Amino acid sequence: MGKIVIAIDGYSGCGKSSTAKAVAKELGYTYIDSGAMYRAATLHFLDNYLAPSNPQDVSKGLKSLEIEFHPNPDTGKQETYLNGVNVESKIRSMRVSEKVSEIAKIKEIRKELVAQQQRLGKSKGVVMDGRDIGSVVFPDAELKIFMTADLETRAYRRQQEMLEKGDMIDLDDIQQNLAERDRIDSSRSESPLIQVEDAIEIDTSNLSFVEQVAQIVYLAKQKI
Ligand code: C5P
Repeated sequence: MGKIVIAIDGYSGCGKSSTAKAVAKELGYTYIDSGAMYRAATLHFLDNYLAPSNPQDVSKGLKSLEIEFHPNPDTGKQETYLNGVNVESKIRSMRVSEKVSEIAKIKEIRKELVAQQQRLGKSKGVVMDGRDIGSVVFPDAELKIFMTADLETRAYRRQQEMLEKGDMIDLDDIQQNLAERDRIDSSRSESPLIQVEDAIEIDTSNLSFVEQVAQIVYLAKQKI
């Protein structure tokens, strides 16, 4: 069986990561969370008081930025490491969510992370989710999915996800953050979030998680 690249792009909070993870598991593929890389870079800039608007800070930040993924020894789930430290929980905080789209706008940061993503996916057999995977990172991906869902549904799902981790965040705050990130991600000049022509759109507003995973696995199996 041949191995393909599956690119999943779409708006913030429409379940791309959890869907991509489940699709990868079902196909025996590697899952790569490109958003986690932008989040880790954001944490690095915040913790070191580096301003993305200052070119010197950007080159300083990129020189000391090492992002890796390692499976959790207990759960087997892939977790994000920044310069050797597990930051999986920290990168999901509102502190990072509020700043990540500002960091992700910067050309030099995108260039570095895109190169890393391309290296991670070069042997194929990967499912990668993000905003520019089908347009920039893997324009030749064999399967491109563009996921959408209405804003209320996305905010509610994200709130439930955070509640499960013990974080109680106001629904309006989540909704505002998702809408603001969509606005910045779609309007930036560097690799804006777009739906490329050859992407298949899946609106998950009225789909169950099992249904959305099954749809993508079905589409993938036709290409493998
Ligand atoms: O996927 P997630 O919501 O964790 O991504 C966080 C942020 O990282 C997005 O809002 C976007 O600003 C940025 N991002 C990006 N390109 C990607 C993945 C994420 O610009 N490929």
